[in-house]
Order: sequence, then C-alpha cells, then structure tokens
Amino acid sequence: MYIDLLTDSGTNAMSSEQWGGILSGDEAYAGARSYYRLQDTCRDIFGYGYIQPVHQGRAAEKVLFPLLLQKGMVAISNMFFDTTRAHVELAGARAIDCVVDAAKSPSIRAPFKGNMDVAKLEQLIVEYGPEKVGLVVMTITNNSAGGQPVSMQNLRETYAICQKYNVPLDIDGARFAENAYFIKRDEAGYTNKSIKEIVGEMFSYSDMFSMSAKKDGIVNIGGILGTKDANSPLVTGIKANCISYEGFYTYGGLAGRDMEALAIGLYEAIEDDYLKYRIGQMEYLASLLDDAGIAYQAPVGGHGVFVDAAALLPHIPYYEYPGQTLALELYLEAGIRSCDIGSYMLGNDPDTRKQLRSEFEFTRLAIPRRVYTQAHLDVIADALIEIKKRANTLRGYRITWEPPVLRHFQASLEPIR
Ligand code: F0G
Repeated sequence: MYIDLLTDSGTNAMSSEQWGGILSGDEAYAGARSYYRLQDTCRDIFGYGYIQPVHQGRAAEKVLFPLLLQKGMVAISNMFFDTTRAHVELAGARAIDCVVDAAKSPSIRAPFKGNMDVAKLEQLIVEYGPEKVGLVVMTITNNSAGGQPVSMQNLRETYAICQKYNVPLDIDGARFAENAYFIKRDEAGYTNKSIKEIVGEMFSYSDMFSMSAKKDGIVNIGGILGTKDANSPLVTGIKANCISYEGFYTYGGLAGRDMEALAIGLYEAIEDDYLKYRIGQMEYLASLLDDAGIAYQAPVGGHGVFVDAAALLPHIPYYEYPGQTLALELYLEAGIRSCDIGSYMLGNDPDTRKQLRSEFEFTRLAIPRRVYTQAHLDVIADALIEIKKRANTLRGYRITWEPPVLRHFQASLEPIR
C-alpha cells in the first residue's frame, strides 16, 4: 500500500510539541496533572463544566447512550456515524437520520450540506412524542454526508427545538475545528471572529458533547465526553459507566501522556494557518477531480473527498456496493486504500435483516492530518482518472461472510463474475 486514505482517525502526525508532552505525561492513577491540563483546555475551548476522558469516540457513546436510551426509544441525528448508530441500537433504541435534502445530491453545490433538517426534526419529535426521543445528536462535521459542515444558524435552531421539547442534545464533535473553519469562511457574521470564539459559540448550543479526539484532537488515540453543566444528573452515571468500562474517571482508558498530547493537539487544531492548510488540501484534490469531470460530494468537505461512486459506476446497483467496488479498484490501480460510505457500510435493517439502501454511494478518500504532500494528492487524482477510463468494465461485489453488527469492518467479499 502506497497511500493510506482508509481514515483520518488516529492516523495524524503529532507535532514536536505533542511529542514533548508525551514525555512529561503524569501517570498517577487518579487526579494526574495531565488530566487537569486536559480539563482546563476543554473548559477553555468548549466552555463545558464536566470533562470525561475516554479512550476513543465509541467509548464515549458506550458510556453515554445507555444513560439516555432504551428499547422503544429513538435517537435522531443530522446523520449518525456508523459506530454511533451501532451504540444507539446496542442501547435498544432506533437511529433516525434527519439531514437536509441538499446532502443527498452530491452535485448540488450548497454551503452547509451537513445541516439538520430542523422542520423534519420537529415533526419527528412530535410524531414519536418527546418522551420517546431519548437523544438528538448533532454530528459536526457531518462525516457520513461527506464531511459537510453544519452552520451556526442550524446549530442554534436545532438547540432551540430540543429545548422546546425538553429533549437532550449531544454534539458529536469529532471534527469540530474543521466545522468552525467553514463557518468562518462561509457564514455571514463570522469572518472576523477567531476559530476559538466560533467553537465556543457552537458548543453553547448543546447540553453535552461526545468526541473522538483521534480526528481534530490530532492524536493517535483519545476521546472526550463533556456536559455543559458540571452538576448535571448525568455525571454520576457517566462516572459509574466509565469506571466499569474505561477506567477511573480521571483517565478513562487513556494514559497520562495521551491526555497531555491531546490537550496540546486541541489548541493546534484551532490555529487559522493549520486549518487553511488542512482544508486547502481537500480543495486542491477536489479541483483536480473537477478538471477530470469526476463527481464528488460538492463543495468538498473537511476531512476528505467523497467520490460519487454511484455517478462513476451507474451500472452497479447499491446491493453490489459501488462505493466499495471503487475503493477496491483504487487499491488495485495504485495501492491506495480508501473505504465505502454507502450501502456496504450502512448494512442490514436491524429488525428485518434486509440490505438497506443508502442515500448515496461514496468512496471516501479520507486525508490524515499533517501526513501527505501535494504530490500524493496528484497520484490519487491520476489513479481515479485512469479508473474513469475503464469504469464501464467494472463489476460489483457480493458479501460471502458478514458479522451481525458493523459488518464493513470485517466482512469478506468476492467479485461478481
Ligand atoms: N463520530 C464520528 C462522527 C466519527 O467519524 C467517528 C469515527 C466516531 C464518532 C467514533 O470514533 O473511531 O474514535 O471510536 N470515525 C472514524 C472514521 C472511524 O473513519 O470516520 P472512534
């Protein structure tokens, strides 16, 4: 493998400052200095009262969701990431996506395609009854929709609806800094605000957040869970679940040195120059695909280019996985690893076990932070251009074995001949 675009999660290059932090981590079991540094950083950036380290994003979901969800309930999101959806289902509830329609048309260039459809959200809350809606999750940026950002206005409106019906709101903030950059770049009234000010306002429109720090924490492992109110009744349950599943609540499955590196990475992630370079890489790769007439979720989002495999391979139906087919072809063509964000990832209906049809079929080219150069991006575009020339000869795949949950991490496939 020459270029690894499987994920931008935990694959980031840490800075010399962060490696320095690794050496000075405090490994006390309880109340380590590194924990307080992380807590102070998170209070400063996000403005939340209670901060719980966990080992990664899905750990935050595992600790938090069973406190709010149970059988017969639903959780609604602008779009659930796959592990987030899985933890809703593991808690016995059902997950409903509620993204704006524009997200479903990759060729429509609209800003903030990650937004929640707020009218539909309100309608769903009324339909199910507010007491049945255990949780609303706002994913920023909206990974499954193509790393598309959510606007400040949409965050504000979503929070207002949740407050109106007394439904708890959780920000899934894995890519919070990239989201803030788009607000600064594209939303009226934010051009002259600092990224830190924008992040502070974004997080003011939620009750809690869960975060995989392996993305915008720019670390290789880590996660955070926070409640705005330090005295929230949830905190007791969070601490109890954390002690059972993750470790004592002042380290939550992380080493002291991990918390030290994360506290530093969170500040690096909100630097203007870093974010300009970061989103600039996406814009550059997307511009090469524009020149070649290769469709992707446009305008390009924050952590990768999501190639529209359904447009490139229109002859391959969703149940033969066009997104996965293109991912495999990219590997064969140029040793580039990527992944499907489409029907292959979505999996089967948990009740009927029938293959679900995704709103889109993407091949995700996720770009790790501070790892690849412009030359790598040129190789990626060249490989796609070569594949486009023979696109109509490609065939789909079928699954020969799959596990019951999160199958795309483990399933086996064979080509359809
Ligand atoms: N939420 C979002 C929006 C994510 O993108 C991810 C992970 C998680 C939660 C779970 O976090 O991996 O630290 O347990 N996304 C990775 C990806 C795996 O490739 O997009 P985790």
